[in-house]
Amino acid sequence: MLERYVKKILQARVYDAARETPLSEARFLSKRLKNSIWIKREDLQPVFSFKVRGAYNCMAQLSEEQKACGVITASAGNHAQGLALSARQMGVKATIVMPRITPDIKVQAVKARGAKVVLKGDAFNEALEYALQLVEEKGYTYIPPYDHPDVIAGQGTLAMEVLRQHAGPLHAIFVPVGGGGLIAGVAAYVKYLRPEVKVIGVEPEDAACLKAALEKDRRVVLEQVGLFAEGVAVAQIGKEPFKICREYVDDVITVNTDEICAAVKDIFEDTRAVSEPSGAVSLAGLKKYVEQTGIEDEHLVCINSGANTNFDRLQHIAERTELGEKREAILAVTIPEQPGSFKQFCRVVGKRMVTEFCYRYADTEHAQIYVGVSVKPGGEDRLELVQALQSAGYPVIDLTDNELAKLHIRHLGGGRSPNAGDEAVYRFEFPERPGALMNFLRHLGQDWNISLFHYRNHGSAYGRVLVALQIPEGESGNINEYFDRIGYRYWAESDNPAYQLFLG
Ligand SMILES: Cc1ncc(COP(=O)(O)O)c(C=O)c1O
Repeated sequence: MLERYVKKILQARVYDAARETPLSEARFLSKRLKNSIWIKREDLQPVFSFKVRGAYNCMAQLSEEQKACGVITASAGNHAQGLALSARQMGVKATIVMPRITPDIKVQAVKARGAKVVLKGDAFNEALEYALQLVEEKGYTYIPPYDHPDVIAGQGTLAMEVLRQHAGPLHAIFVPVGGGGLIAGVAAYVKYLRPEVKVIGVEPEDAACLKAALEKDRRVVLEQVGLFAEGVAVAQIGKEPFKICREYVDDVITVNTDEICAAVKDIFEDTRAVSEPSGAVSLAGLKKYVEQTGIEDEHLVCINSGANTNFDRLQHIAERTELGEKREAILAVTIPEQPGSFKQFCRVVGKRMVTEFCYRYADTEHAQIYVGVSVKPGGEDRLELVQALQSAGYPVIDLTDNELAKLHIRHLGGGRSPNAGDEAVYRFEFPERPGALMNFLRHLGQDWNISLFHYRNHGSAYGRVLVALQIPEGESGNINEYFDRIGYRYWAESDNPAYQLFLG
């Protein structure tokens, strides 16, 4: 089987539409992980993903008659763009059926390449059904995204380039797995020519269809599939890819959303490229492999398989990155409800940067705070921080791996506090720099109890804090004068309807 595939790969026609992409050394990562890390830059393809290789090669094998009838596929993602480009290049009519929920940016990208877009159904399966119906009715040829020998062979050209570009010793190639077209092509080529090189699949832990199939030794359908890395969110490994994978894939590693986000950042730091989540999956797996095996001084290749991400997703990715790198600890800490205890708490946190601080007055004894703190990766520093806080007498619960805390409580902590009387609310802005929050607290002094505090370090030039102080009647007259002396910009917000409706 391998020889047949290698021949197909060597004869594959992809370079009319795709290009040979560079294999870049990731210098920062290499140093950090103590291995030589190489990134195959498929984000530099004309459609910003490798998918054009398989789509073009599959189309290139069609007869003139088939081409004259036109091609069709169902896809909301990179395959759609790959097919649209290939069809335009060959002068063939292409129809792409997309689920109605497909983001407009992707619809426009496919239209811009000259393909006809049909929006049909709420989910992918309905779009697929309709595409197959059109095959029957109109005689179009269906070009599948992964489950076809010619698609697999097209994707395999990526491995051909890697082995040529990196002729020396190579420990492993890490490959993202959706339906398995890419890994099948890579495994077939690599195992035929360099069987000592490991081929390791990487899947999100909530979309691990290859892992599940290898465990059961048959293709299984996952009941639910996580959509975060939508390019690899596939419920069942392809039939043809599985024939190759069950024989030639050495291992499968699964990664979580935070680890994928952290890998997006790593790729950015080394190459300045912003990958889509699926594009960073294989690096996330590579990092985990190095951590688990402890290997050093080996050459490892991963694939930035795509860069078609919506701009508005970057905020979420950036926020979760620190957690994926285990650089941010999220803690629930109980501190005494008295003036000055915030500042005392910050003193124990020490030089570490506070990334988030959320607190709302509950009762006269204890204050429950939600706090994010920058820590060194690896977990030891986080443990030290927790121990330091516990030794100082603070009850601490580590919420770093708690999804509820990270996704929801972060935004909901606080709320109304019927017991927080005489409350005056202010919003502050101060220049952000190390120690700026501590400095702000020092300026705020200890004269009034703090009944609400929210701070989130967004990495911008200014730190922003919302604070409520319990100021007894009669003392409020001096407050503006006092704040003016602090010198930071501030706004009185007690009358703001947003405060009154949700917090007051
Ligand atoms: C960016 C990206 N990476 C990886 C994959 C997975 O490829 P395959 O379905 O061939 O396993 C896809 C599939 O669309 C993708 O778009």
